[in-house]
Amino acid sequence: MSTATASPFRYQGWSLFSLLAALVLLMTGLILVLNPDLAEGVRSAIRATARSSFALFLLAFTASAFAVLVPAPLSRSLVRERRFIGLAFAFSHLVHAVLIYSYGQLNPEFWPGRTILGNVPGTVGYVFILLLALTSFKTTTRLIGFKAWKRLHVTGMWVLAAIFAYSNFKRIPMSAWYVMPFGLICAATAIRLVGKLAQANKRLHTPQRAA
Ligand code: HEM
Repeated sequence: MSTATASPFRYQGWSLFSLLAALVLLMTGLILVLNPDLAEGVRSAIRATARSSFALFLLAFTASAFAVLVPAPLSRSLVRERRFIGLAFAFSHLVHAVLIYSYGQLNPEFWPGRTILGNVPGTVGYVFILLLALTSFKTTTRLIGFKAWKRLHVTGMWVLAAIFAYSNFKRIPMSAWYVMPFGLICAATAIRLVGKLAQANKRLHTPQRAA
């Protein structure tokens, strides 16, 4: 009899990535087609892809904490699929970047209206997204070594969490709606930290096997 547990995810690995990427493209296409004004449509799609990226990021960011705090087939599958969810997040943000470029072409006042300082968090975010995505493959992980990979991915995830927190927080004066995503990233941070503490505690109380 097979000992493998059935995954609650119908789509796994690259098929999960393809499904998530297709959904991001479908959402973007629908927003562009349904909006009578192209520039407005592109702007809405920029916001929508930031939100799809945010949802995927939250899953990848909290996966291992959930697996420790709520051990269940779903949370374990989330950890197993984390790499593909992370790559889908990078894809969604690639679409965010393509739309930003297109918006700059459609609205010549867009880039001159932004400050260099204002572009710093987003640019740093993209540098980390690129580094995390490029090192999410077995060959590249082996190339940089596990220690460097771990350091890069832990740092990158915290930097991205900070950028999401900042991007949503600075929009609260424009709309109280942004309190919700800001609250979500604060909650995700707390879950991740509690998960780490629980993991450390578990390790401390697990009897060490004699050598
Ligand atoms: C230089 C790079 C970037 C530029 C120029 C940029 C530009 C934009 C623009 C124009 C919007 C729509 C603003 C509006 O209509 O209200 C937006 C929304 C947003 N972006 Fe980006 N972005 C960049 C990178 C990033 C990164 C790396 C992240 C996150 C890691 C991010 C997260 C967000 C969020 C959270 C929103 C708000 C979405 C909402 O309204 O719910 N952006 N961005």
